[in-house]
Amino acid sequence: MTQFLPESVLVWLPDTIQLMYLVATAFFIRGLKLLNSPQTARRGNQLAATGMLIGIVVTLFDQQIVSFELIIIGVLIGGAIGAILARRVAMTSMPELVAVFNGFGGGASALVAWGEFARTTDVTTFDNTGLVTIGLSIFIGALTFTGSFIAFGKLQGFISGNSITFPGLNIINIGSMVAVLILIGFFSFDPTNPTIFWVILGVSLLIGITSVIPIGGADMPVVISLLNSYSGIAASMAGFVLGNNLLIVSGALVGAAGLILTNIMCVAMNRSLANVIFGSFGGDGGSGGSSADGGDKTVRETSAEDLAIQVAYASKVIFVPGYGLAVAQAQHIIKEVATKLEARGVQVKYGIHPVAGRMPGHMNVLLAEADVPYDLLYDMDQINPEFASTDVVLIIGANDVVNPLSKTDPGSPIYGMPILDVDEAKRTVVFKRSLSVGYAGIDNPLFYAEKNQMFFGDAKKSLQALNEALNEV
Ligand code: TAP
Repeated sequence: MTQFLPESVLVWLPDTIQLMYLVATAFFIRGLKLLNSPQTARRGNQLAATGMLIGIVVTLFDQQIVSFELIIIGVLIGGAIGAILARRVAMTSMPELVAVFNGFGGGASALVAWGEFARTTDVTTFDNTGLVTIGLSIFIGALTFTGSFIAFGKLQGFISGNSITFPGLNIINIGSMVAVLILIGFFSFDPTNPTIFWVILGVSLLIGITSVIPIGGADMPVVISLLNSYSGIAASMAGFVLGNNLLIVSGALVGAAGLILTNIMCVAMNRSLANVIFGSFGGDGGSGGSSADGGDKTVRETSAEDLAIQVAYASKVIFVPGYGLAVAQAQHIIKEVATKLEARGVQVKYGIHPVAGRMPGHMNVLLAEADVPYDLLYDMDQINPEFASTDVVLIIGANDVVNPLSKTDPGSPIYGMPILDVDEAKRTVVFKRSLSVGYAGIDNPLFYAEKNQMFFGDAKKSLQALNEALNEV
């Protein structure tokens, strides 16, 4: 690209490129800040995408190895695949999409480092730091690549969601990681030995597989967030290898954001990261399993007509959405029901648990898609004091996030997880298809509580029935 520029511009080019990288970085940081709230998230996304566009265009002038035609072809092909995937993927499959993106991100970083090493005819010209950076980039990038595809396979059901492990596997994994780090040390002193290089690459690819395969499918969202962080670190390393400041900064931002997100999920589930990685918790994480021990307990059922009367004459109703709302794609109909109730003078709110659904912000994004006003969405700490004064709580496809066992049963896997205190309301109604367990695989005593009624069926169909029944009240 630079060959088209006049000499007078070329003099300023290096400084201008660095300046534009700084501008792109500022766009990324501001974009991330705006992602803080649903009102500004869309603008934040657009701003960060603009920063990325600036980064790509500037790189066209900064490239010294690959021709700009190749970069443009890559951007067009990659952009087209990304756009098609992002448009087609269902909201409930977002973790799978992110897993694939992470895998490619990690793989690309490893390839960049490998390419930089391979194209250098005299590898002894690299200093130790450069070689360590190349080694780390290949290590983290390669394990992110295979680990992400295992996570994708578990979520898609190609690989069993159950923990696949044997005694001592965790020790082998930790030992292999330490061995790779030692080999990277050797590699930095003797880059001419190809065996060391190939062993680092091969073992790193294996570690990605063996460290994700023992983790239960239900924990994949946390793993994916962690791998997202790894892919950022790998990109940052690749930035050091190439001497590209923008890649260093953007990789670091992804690395830090992924770690923060991982931490938020762990805190909201009241579990440590070590427990997620080494604990082999949960099975395939899907719903549809059987009730854990609820066989002979009785539940009270309700119908659309009964429920319509209860909510139409209530003064305050809170909706609690969960994963089942996303599966049923019931976000539009929930809004219709809420609007109808509001028109009758009922006060309506939505209580959102931080890990309702299968990824952070899942419920907020779904409800925003249906234009539910943001000021009706309350997070857990805001809504919990309100349940005691609520007439009816409609729990739509949520299970674990309203399970009182987390407060009462120290033996329960979710013990200590903060929940929505729906059991304090005058009446709760659970919309789900059966008495099946949720993500954590445990029974929920709320279903059998005196104040609770079950509305069995697909959440969307049940809400449609309620919506129609409300016309008759
Ligand atoms: P879950 O506890 O998984 O329960 C969802 C319920 O939805 C199931 O019990 C299922 O029961 C019901 N359901 C499924 N499809 C349905 C449909 N079409 N119509 C009606 N109901 C349907 O969900 P939750 O309460 O949202 O809790 C989220 C869980 O995921 C937590 O345990 C959390 O720790 C975990 N998790 C979340 C995240 C993030 S960041 N959100 C990350 C990792 C793990 P039926 O089969 O009987 O219908």
